[in-house]
Amino acid sequence: MAEWVRACDADELNSADPFAFDYGEKRILLARFKNTVYATDRICTHAYADLSTGFMNEDERTITCPLHMSSFKLEDGIPQNLPAEEPLKTYKTEIREKTVYVLVD
Ligand code: FES
Repeated sequence: MAEWVRACDADELNSADPFAFDYGEKRILLARFKNTVYATDRICTHAYADLSTGFMNEDERTITCPLHMSSFKLEDGIPQNLPAEEPLKTYKTEIREKTVYVLVD
C-alpha cells in the first residue's frame, strides 16, 4: 500500500546535489529544482551503481550514472542513452510546510 513518508527538510535539497533517502529496503534519489522535487529509485537499472554519487544536469533535469554514464530523466526515469535501457521507477513528491514527502509503494 502506498504511503506518504517524510524524506527530509526542503532546505536540504538544492539543484547541484542529488540526495540519498532510504526507506526500508528502498533506495531513493531526491533532486530539487526550484519548487519541484523529483524522486526516483537510486540504483542504476544497468548494473549496481548508486546514482546519488552521479552528476545532475539542471538544464536537462537528468541524473548521470557515475559508472557507465547513462543519463536518466528525473521526471519519468527514462534513460537517454545506452547502456541503460530500463527506466528508473519514479515516485510522487510533495513539499508541505518546508518538508519533503515521498509517496512510497
Ligand atoms: S551501472 Fe549505470 S550505466 Fe552502467
